Amino acid sequence: MEQIVITGQKRLSGAVHINGAKNAAVAIIPAAIAANGVSIIENLPHIEDVIILANAIKSIGVVCEFKDEHTLMIDSRGVTDFKITYDLTRNMRASYYLLGSLLGRFKRAVVPLPGGCNFGSRPIDQHIKGFEAMGANIVLKHGLIHAYAEKLTGSHIYLDMASVGATINIMLAAVYAEGVTTIENAAREPHVVDTANFLNILGAKIKGAGTDMIRITGVAELYGAEYQIIPDQIEAGTYMIASAITCGDIKVCNIIPKHMDSLSAKLIEMNCELEEGDDYIRVMCTDSLQAVNVITMAYPGFPTDLQPQMTALMSTVKGTSIITETVFDNRFQYVTELRRLGSNVTVEGRVAVIEGGAALSGAEVNAVDLRAGAALVVAGLAARGDTTISNIKHIDRGYEDIENKLRSLGANIRRVDTVAGVGHKSPRAVF
Ligand code: EPZ
Repeated sequence: MEQIVITGQKRLSGAVHINGAKNAAVAIIPAAIAANGVSIIENLPHIEDVIILANAIKSIGVVCEFKDEHTLMIDSRGVTDFKITYDLTRNMRASYYLLGSLLGRFKRAVVPLPGGCNFGSRPIDQHIKGFEAMGANIVLKHGLIHAYAEKLTGSHIYLDMASVGATINIMLAAVYAEGVTTIENAAREPHVVDTANFLNILGAKIKGAGTDMIRITGVAELYGAEYQIIPDQIEAGTYMIASAITCGDIKVCNIIPKHMDSLSAKLIEMNCELEEGDDYIRVMCTDSLQAVNVITMAYPGFPTDLQPQMTALMSTVKGTSIITETVFDNRFQYVTELRRLGSNVTVEGRVAVIEGGAALSGAEVNAVDLRAGAALVVAGLAARGDTTISNIKHIDRGYEDIENKLRSLGANIRRVDTVAGVGHKSPRAVF
C-alpha cells in the first residue's frame, strides 16, 4: 500500500507551478463530447480523475489520446454508445457531466448514479430538475441514471442552491435545447465560467456565466476547438496555506490571483504578508499569526474545498478560531485524523471550534477524502517528527506530483510503498 511520509518542521520556500484546475478538467472533457468534432484541451492536470474520465469516454467510441501529460486530443465524431459503464467511473463523481453532454447532443444517456462521499449524501436532484424542465425523461434504476428526450426545449430553471454540478450539467444539455434556457441562482465558480467559455468557443451561445443568472440559447451543432483550462484555485490555495503553516515564503505561480481573493484576505487578516503579481501570489509568513474565523460559501466566498486545510493551519495558530461549513452538511469527518496529530478541534454540526497553538506531533493518519488528505499533508509539514499518511489515492485524484513539488520547496517528504519499499515512485497514471 502506498503512503506519504513527511518529517515536519521544515520551513518551506521557493516557487511552485500550479497545474490546471481539476474541477474545470472534469467538466470540460465531457463538454468536448457535446461537439461533433476534434478538440485539443491544454493545461489539464495529470491526475487520476482526468485519466479515469479519458478512459470512460473511450469506452463509448470517442477517440482520445494524450499529446503530452497535460494535453488531450478528443475526437467525438464517432460516438457509438451512450452508456458509461460503472467500473470505469466508480471512483469519481464528476462522470455525471457525461449525462448533460450526451443528453444534450444525442437526447439519450445512461450514466452511473454518483456515489456519496465522506462528507454527505451529495444528491443530484437539482441536475434532474433541470433536465426534466427541458423535457427529458429521467429514470434511476440499478444504480444508473437513464435519460431520454424526444427533444429538449429551453426553460427557466431556479436552483434551490447555487450548485456547481447542477449549473454545469444543465448548461451542457441546454446548449442543444430549442430556444432559451435560463438558470437562476446559478453557481459562479471559476470552473463554471471556464466550462461556459469553452462551450462558447465550440459554438454555443451562453451569456452570464460568473453571475447568478445564466442564459443559454440553443444551437443546432457544436464544433471542435482548442482550449487551455484555468489554473487550479484549490491546489494554489493548498500551497499558500502550506507556506503559512511552515512560516515559509512560497511564490505560488501560474495562477489567477483574483480567484484566490477570499483566501488571500484571510491570510492577510492572520498577519501573513502577500505579494500579488499578474499570475502569482507570494505568501510570506511573519512570526506571529493571528487566529481568524472562516465561513465557507459558494464563490466568491471562502471555498469549502480549502476548509480542511484551513482547519489544519488554525490548529497551529495561538487563539480560538471558528470555522463554519455552510456548503456541505458533514465535512468535518477528517478532524478525527487531525486530532491524532495533536489538533484541538471540537465539532458541533457544521461548526468547528479550534483552540490553536499546540505543537503538532507526527502520527500515522488516514486520508478519508481528497481535501482531508491535503489537510493531513499540510499538518504533517508543521508536525514534529514523522507523519505517515495512508489512503493517498485520494490525494493523487486532485494533486499532481505533490511530493516532488513540496520537496522542491524544502519539505522532507517521500512516497513509500509498504510492499515495494521507501522511495517508491508511483507509476504515472497510464492512459
Ligand atoms: C463541486 O461539487 C466540486 N466538485 C466540489 O469539489 C466542491 O466542493 C463543490 O462543487 C462546492 O464548490 C467538482 O467540481 C467535480 P455542489 P458538486 O453541487 O458540484 C447540494 C473537490 O474536492 N446539492 O455545488 O457536487 C450538495 O449536497 C470537490 O474538488 C443538492 O442538494 O457540489 C451540497 O450541499 C469536493 N442537490 C451543495 O448543494 C443537487 O442536485 C453544493 O453542492 C446538487 C447539489
